Amino acid sequence: MLVKFSKASDVKPSEITSKTLYMNRRRFLKTAAVAGAGAAFGTIAAPVFAAKGNPRVKFSGVQKSKWTQEALGEELTDYGPITEYNNFYEFGAAKTDPAEYSQDFKTRPWSLTIDGAVEKPGVYDLEDFLKPHQLEERVYRMRCVEAWSMVIPWVGIPLGDIIKRVGLKSDAKYVAFETLLDPEQMRGQKRPVLKWPYKEGLRIDEAMNPLTIMAVGLYGEVMPNQNGAPFRLVVPWKYGFKGIKSIVRMTFQPDMPPTSWNVASPREYGFYSNVNPSVNHPRWSQAKERRIGDFLKRPTLMFNGYEEEVAGMYAGMDLGKLY
Ligand code: MTE
Repeated sequence: MLVKFSKASDVKPSEITSKTLYMNRRRFLKTAAVAGAGAAFGTIAAPVFAAKGNPRVKFSGVQKSKWTQEALGEELTDYGPITEYNNFYEFGAAKTDPAEYSQDFKTRPWSLTIDGAVEKPGVYDLEDFLKPHQLEERVYRMRCVEAWSMVIPWVGIPLGDIIKRVGLKSDAKYVAFETLLDPEQMRGQKRPVLKWPYKEGLRIDEAMNPLTIMAVGLYGEVMPNQNGAPFRLVVPWKYGFKGIKSIVRMTFQPDMPPTSWNVASPREYGFYSNVNPSVNHPRWSQAKERRIGDFLKRPTLMFNGYEEEVAGMYAGMDLGKLY
């Protein structure tokens, strides 16, 4: 993004591969240690979140959804690049910083504040809060504003289910999200790279859209810290930066909330940030993208290929102006 921006052409598959092997070895050692400590290898009747660091812990009982890999018809991106090529500025601006510096980030217990225009505001313990909900797998195409993309098998629950549970009041037109502010744990917050805490927002119809999920994992496993543990937003028809990570607060309100990248550079990053091949970023084209792992670029699809499900929400809007 703004800081230390790396172009799609800077993604060197060789770097990813060597890092992947290294990290997998580290993870294998950690996982072996967990298994050795008496837990069943494979499907563990999981706590919803890994206690500390990032041992790979499988969820049990994740339901399939209609958003399967078969339905999408595209290959999944490997676990390695998904978890080692990240943007999470709280842990540093380089793509490999989040995997390197988030391993001791404490994600349990985790409080989630839900406030503003809802019937049941409160400070919830995330693990208790999520219990009645059934986890689903959602295989989504994800497109970064930096013109690279991945296909990720998320584990999560529809944000709409959470919203129904807390009950919306009539003046709730937007939802504002906030990431944890904790510079002691998040070394990147010691520098004013962005205005901390990281913030995002959605219009209520976007938040209620069946595609929008709160994700707690990927590849059937507990969310790695660098991908936004314990709880992050996933909105597959928008550029990746809308997917705010490690959320501690959701506020329902009448006004459009400020969002981190829009505050940092309004000309480059709008509130909507819908994937749109015909609206270029001021400094580069959005017409094509490089799927991580591929050599050649492919055309970017309108709304990232989710046009049928979402275009109706933007009918009549000038998407060149409301980008
Ligand atoms: N959330 C927080 N809190 N901090 C961040 O820096 N980066 C965003 C988004 N969510 C970011 C964040 C950006 S720019 C992108 S592209 C996606 O997370 C990347 O998610 P991934 O690393 O899981 O692919």
